[in-house]
Amino acid sequence: MRTVVVTGATSGIGRATALDLAAHGFRVVATARTEEKAAKLTAAAAEAGLELRTVLLDVTDPVSCQDAVAEIDEQTGGGPWALVNNAGVVVPGAVEDVAEADARQVLEVNLLGAARLTRLVLPGMTRRGGGRIVQISSVAGRFATPLNGWYCASKHALEALTDALRCEVAARGIRVSLIEPGCVDTPLLTDALAAPPPADSVHGAAYAATRRLLALHRPVPPERVARAVRRALLAPRPRRRYGVGPEAAVAPLVRLVPAAVADTVVRAVLRMNAG
Ligand SMILES: NC(=O)c1ccc[n+]([C@@H]2O[C@H](COP(=O)([O-])OP(=O)(O)OC[C@H]3O[C@@H](n4cnc5c(N)ncnc54)[C@H](OP(=O)(O)O)[C@@H]3O)[C@@H](O)[C@H]2O)c1
Repeated sequence: MRTVVVTGATSGIGRATALDLAAHGFRVVATARTEEKAAKLTAAAAEAGLELRTVLLDVTDPVSCQDAVAEIDEQTGGGPWALVNNAGVVVPGAVEDVAEADARQVLEVNLLGAARLTRLVLPGMTRRGGGRIVQISSVAGRFATPLNGWYCASKHALEALTDALRCEVAARGIRVSLIEPGCVDTPLLTDALAAPPPADSVHGAAYAATRRLLALHRPVPPERVARAVRRALLAPRPRRRYGVGPEAAVAPLVRLVPAAVADTVVRAVLRMNAG
């Protein structure tokens, strides 16, 4: 049985993915930041008649990452067959409204955390002559939108890093895929929508317009993303990118629009024009 590690499996996409993979014959090691959340996840799996193991992990803490991978190596006799880098956070806000500590945090979790875990599992995959790495990116990794710049930056950087990694590990039989969902119905999205805009921002009208626009979206359930992860893991020749949801379907077209036109439309829609 193949072992898959899913990071950030206590909620949303990670939880749905861990349960989906356990239901489809994978041995799942799901990571959580606290014993309490790990126990809740194990109980939810047991209720569904599924088995999964949990390991404590904070992807921003190098020691926690080393300890978690050492524990997984021991459990699996040499490391997992696949890693799903899912743990993620969003810090909404205009570039000038986001504090440096918050900007660092989003890069620490979404980019450096994923890179750290990848580095730690690669020796085992190399020894075995193969493996899979699946990165949960976003349409925000394909095009950037105002008031979400740091999140978009973290996902653009993850995409770039992954494009480089894919070529670096291919000769060792390690396949790497990016999953690019649009809006997904998870606490990350609802928390971002609920976050009050900074009171003294010059972008007050844009925050309100963004909120109205996001409320019109019909987010897909996290299980849709879980299915895409499973497809990436099961495909003999996995794709480089799997889009999920309507926003992902239009992402390639958005990239064809000249930047000057895109800027004009985005500024008008978000009421970012002067006056
Ligand atoms: N929701 C969307 O619309 C959407 C769209 C595209 C891509 N994504 C991506 O999908 C992934 C999962 O997000 P989600 O929507 O499922 O959000 P979520 O429900 O908030 O789940 C995020 C998960 O990441 C974990 N996490 C956060 N910081 C961590 C850290 N430092 N170390 C380890 N785990 C950490 C959380 O653990 P705790 O429970 O302990 O906080 C939680 O399990 C993210 O990479 C996100 O960028 C989401």
